[in-house]
Amino acid sequence: MNLKDLYIDYFVKLGHVQIPSSPVVPENDNTVLFNTAGMQPLIPYLMGEPHPYGKRLVDYQKCIRTNDLDEVGDSYHHTFFEMLGNWSLGDYFKKESIEWSFNFLTKVLNIKKERLAVTIFKGNEIAPKDTETKQIWMNLGIKEEHIFETVEDNWWPNLELPGLCGPDTEIFYFRSNDTIPEYFDPKDERWVEIWNNVFMQYNHDENGTIKELPKKNVDTGMGVERTTAILEGKLDNYESSLWKPIIEIIENISNKKYEENKKSMRIIADHIRTSVFISADPAGIKPSNIGQGYILRRLIRRAIRHAKKLEIDINSNWDELIALKILDMYSKYYKELIDNKNVVLEVLKNEKIKFNKTLEKGLKEFNKVKNNDIDGTTAFHLFDTYGFPIELTVELANELGHTVDIDGFNKKFKEHQELSRTASSGQFKGGLGGQGEIETKYHTATHLLNAALKQIVSKEIHQKGSNITSERLRFDFNCDHKLTDEEKEKVESLVNKWINEDLLVVKEEMKKSDAINSGAECMFIEKYPDIVSVYSIGNVSKELCGGPHVKSTKELGKFKIIKEESSSSGVRRIKAILEN
Ligand code: ALA
Repeated sequence: MNLKDLYIDYFVKLGHVQIPSSPVVPENDNTVLFNTAGMQPLIPYLMGEPHPYGKRLVDYQKCIRTNDLDEVGDSYHHTFFEMLGNWSLGDYFKKESIEWSFNFLTKVLNIKKERLAVTIFKGNEIAPKDTETKQIWMNLGIKEEHIFETVEDNWWPNLELPGLCGPDTEIFYFRSNDTIPEYFDPKDERWVEIWNNVFMQYNHDENGTIKELPKKNVDTGMGVERTTAILEGKLDNYESSLWKPIIEIIENISNKKYEENKKSMRIIADHIRTSVFISADPAGIKPSNIGQGYILRRLIRRAIRHAKKLEIDINSNWDELIALKILDMYSKYYKELIDNKNVVLEVLKNEKIKFNKTLEKGLKEFNKVKNNDIDGTTAFHLFDTYGFPIELTVELANELGHTVDIDGFNKKFKEHQELSRTASSGQFKGGLGGQGEIETKYHTATHLLNAALKQIVSKEIHQKGSNITSERLRFDFNCDHKLTDEEKEKVESLVNKWINEDLLVVKEEMKKSDAINSGAECMFIEKYPDIVSVYSIGNVSKELCGGPHVKSTKELGKFKIIKEESSSSGVRRIKAILEN
């Protein structure tokens, strides 16, 4: 049995019910682009809502963490990983949780307890030192010298973020042939964290107040990739049985050895694997310049670039061969990989065709300037004309020991944005330059329309264009069919319902990365500066936008769709008016 099966089996025997892995794109939570931990889909239940399967749950959850996307290429960073987790929703607490983790590691996985060490919460003004946890570990035979106390590293997710939180105990494994040190030091890289048990008993509200939850929960997380590598005695995760078959395919396709081409092969394996899971997800994400679609685009384009470095013929079906292997390895666990196999292959192929068209020319352009640091204008040119995500230009330049002027790039970006804004405001008639009171109302109504289309017609709808006059709004969006009368009516009444609810329109300034992570909608993410404004309307809409907007939706009057028609292939157009 492999690690996943052993884990599920063990916790099911201890009265846990196995729940299915949730999709990688969160279903009812737009605060993050992807699930980043097993607990994410369980937040309502950790907050107190009863779970239909009871108080003890276990699963393996698909997770994607993109903060470290550019770090992938070393021996242990991955953008996609599977997290094993078991939960107590107000049922068992520290003693059982720790004992079961210990027994699973030492009795099922046969890890010697001398190779284990743990950290515990040291105590601060919120909660006292976790002496109970320390005692439980010592009773199990973990010596005091192998127990280390911290404040910051033993509070999950961390001391600042609002939301569910609590003290945790992290379990480390000594991954080395050296003699096991007498004293455990978590900074010593030979010790690798494999499991985290969080005693989730607090909620941190927006005002910074920390309150005890109605129930004391346990949330645990163990990384499948890392633990598998450890069990197989590998120092490089990519040499474990989870990656080897994929790496071997890449070796065959490129006719090169992993030993001499580790970085590019790891990037290709990791990025294609994550792209397979994103494009197979029921959310139907396609490469684009916003949100999850933009991550997917970056992953595929970076994989293509490294395939080129390995002299793989990128017009061949190399990507398909790798994807098929991944689909084959994971289909047993994730049914959507079987159902959406063709979608996955299509997504990869289409994005490859798109990028191939400009990649060659872009690289030529890059070669002309590669002997110097790259200025903002050049980086912007590579982005705008050749579709090079800025991260790609930075990576190419860094490989040659050069830098990229990111501030200059952002400045160009802004200039470009302002130019297009001026150009489009020139289209406004009525002498108000598009900034008058009525235009402002239409602007807010456009955001509501966008949100309503997503709710009623398809989550995948995004803005493709917008034009406002003092007479009407015009909104273009991707959609594969003519809207039915029923859809139009539902969209119209949803917008009117929101107007009547008198929702507040709130503007926030934030870092672009935070805006993206918060799930804010936006058309061309690259075209925005580092600090952006985000407009939220109640909790129904959140978009990156320069404004202006009304203060609350009651000001809009009555919303009415006057026309729905085709704009271009795959793009529909709605014209709508506001009546008093
Ligand atoms: N939610 C905890 C983590 O991700 C278990 O580490």
